[in-house]
Amino acid sequence: MNTLLLDTANNLPTSRTPVWLMRQAGRILPEYRKVRETAKDFKNLVKTPELAAEVTIQPVDILGVDAAIIFSDILVIPEAMGLNYEMEENRGPVFPKRIASTADLSSLHIAEAEELQYVLDAIKLTKKELNGKVPLIGFAGAPWTIFSYMIEGKGSKTFSQAKKMLYTQPAFSHQLLEMITQSTIHYLKGQIKAGADTVQIFDSWAGILSPDQYAEFSLKYISKICDALGNDVPKIVFAKGAFFARPEMNSINCNVVGLDWNMGIAESRALLPNKVLQGNLDPCALYGSLDDVRRETKKMIDAFGSHKHIANLGHGLYPDIEVDKVKCFIDTVKEYSATKR
Ligand code: CP3
Repeated sequence: MNTLLLDTANNLPTSRTPVWLMRQAGRILPEYRKVRETAKDFKNLVKTPELAAEVTIQPVDILGVDAAIIFSDILVIPEAMGLNYEMEENRGPVFPKRIASTADLSSLHIAEAEELQYVLDAIKLTKKELNGKVPLIGFAGAPWTIFSYMIEGKGSKTFSQAKKMLYTQPAFSHQLLEMITQSTIHYLKGQIKAGADTVQIFDSWAGILSPDQYAEFSLKYISKICDALGNDVPKIVFAKGAFFARPEMNSINCNVVGLDWNMGIAESRALLPNKVLQGNLDPCALYGSLDDVRRETKKMIDAFGSHKHIANLGHGLYPDIEVDKVKCFIDTVKEYSATKR
């Protein structure tokens, strides 16, 4: 097995820097779009283990990444708790019903891993088909990010309705965050049992909270999840925009902290001495020429140095980024980081 990612996450020396990309399975690949058509819609793709496994493995074969990430979505958790989502074409996720008050909590329950059996089955099948080629990353959304979608009912630029709840109904907010946290613990434990070699927690909306609110309503719950998962597999936490929380993140029970492109690399090393770092090239850098991509990628590798680094972008790939540029990023990480050992 290619153990570069797991070795790096466990702070062991490697022959080069491992690389994978957030949203590596998805619309940048024509091969994905073909399978997506067969499946008719996104949810059907997620819920059919054979198809989910196929699109999970595509980037390993086509792009040459050092890890696969299971094809699913963070919004399967609210659905398992009792709040259905729909994925609208070109619009993103929408919840036909949303959570507006304490009374609505009675329609929700703490999810068990078995309620997401289709994801666990997809993980088992993917592991079998990968046959040890590269490790498989499991994932879940951070409770705060999931809470935001459950309150708002859809994506938002400000998530002001979700933030309003934190200011006006803090007790209710903690109650719902706790239910999501317990569901996520069951779910991630299930993923690890099914074969996930490492797990990443995505806090996509971390950056819209103040530092105090972030500590109280988000990091506390992420930390609880990390503690509950134990130390059998490395844990990665990616909190987009939470530059202010780096000192606190240095002491939570995870191995790797993901950085977005706003977070300076040298500064992050100083604030997170205990952690392996992941990231952090701006995905938009991949709109440049191949020469630009090579230059920016080398700059990133130079800044992180030759250890304790998993190369990635600072957030997910955008659908209109060209496959050539993505391959160039991956190849440059592989070739250039090997010359630095
Ligand atoms: O390749 C991978 O990274 C694995 C699969 C994956 C998806 N979603 C598939 C997907 C992962 C890890 C996610 C996580 C996810 N989903 C996050 C956290 C990461 C982040 O980007 O911040 C969030 C916030 C969501 C919610 C979500 N799902 C949104 C807002 C959207 C619509 C916008 C968009 O990017 O398309 C989705 C849809 C989605 N999830 C797609 C994919 C491949 C596109 C659906 C399609 O095929 O049309």
